[in-house]
Amino acid sequence: MADLEGNAAAKKFHSETPAVRFSQNIRGAANLDWGMQNRLSRILDPDTGRTVVLAFDHGYFQGPTSGLERIDLNIAPLAEYADAVMCTRGALRTSVPPATRAGLVLRASGGPSILKDLSDEYTAMAMADAVRINADAVAVQVFVGGEHESRSIRNLTTLVDEGYAAGIPVLGVTAVGKELVRDSRYLGLATRIIAELGAQLVKTYYCDEGFEDVVAGCPVPVIMAGGKKLPELEALTMASNAVRAGAAGVDMGRNIFQSADPAAMMRAVRAVVHDDAAPADAYELFREATETRVLA
Ligand code: R5P
Repeated sequence: MADLEGNAAAKKFHSETPAVRFSQNIRGAANLDWGMQNRLSRILDPDTGRTVVLAFDHGYFQGPTSGLERIDLNIAPLAEYADAVMCTRGALRTSVPPATRAGLVLRASGGPSILKDLSDEYTAMAMADAVRINADAVAVQVFVGGEHESRSIRNLTTLVDEGYAAGIPVLGVTAVGKELVRDSRYLGLATRIIAELGAQLVKTYYCDEGFEDVVAGCPVPVIMAGGKKLPELEALTMASNAVRAGAAGVDMGRNIFQSADPAAMMRAVRAVVHDDAAPADAYELFREATETRVLA
């Protein structure tokens, strides 16, 4: 039994000090439950609201191509430089070490592998499995203006409802079919629809004109998608422009693991996103790291 003697003097209520207010810079998250905010904080830095996510979730329709051939060898080791990884549960369970410290965004939709039918997706994972795996968010594609738009929206809203029950946020991805234009009008519409329907995070492509309006009009963090491989300086410039326009960071795949030096590229992207490094300075970091590795 606890000794009551002498305890009165030990009480320190600090009654003159107001309760600590938590600082939280994740857009739109202030009214979410504690578990959701905690999970979002494992993906985005809660002080800055920024993140670098390593994406390798496209094997679910593309198979072992474009650098995804050996996730265990070529991609999983890069997780140490990422704030979070984005992948399927199959890739995770087979090829990513459970001891990884990175946050986890799990792909939760799937459908045909035929390019022209890509929007024909369904949810492809139960929320109970996301809980079991300890996911910090689940991801779903939304095809605004696409052939199966309504179904993809149902996929999103189903996951949002299940996510609220489990305390797991949903990342909605604006999936832009070839027939749609990636301009600020379209991306602004798609990101806003996804946020209004309940996603706590949105991933979208960058556009040269008006990206700041896309970000401003979306009440949750907008994370820039990488897309096809660009020369490193161009990819760093795109990431920098996106972050300067208000994006919460980047979610990149091929621009990292198809780079001549993926680890150096991860560091350079981090410098742009987390330290506001100028693209030329970040590229210099990339070049120096690459040269050192070649000489070693
Ligand atoms: C969208 O979320 C897609 O599956 C991406 O294509 C995937 O995450 C790979 O990323 P990236 O386009 O940057 O190579």
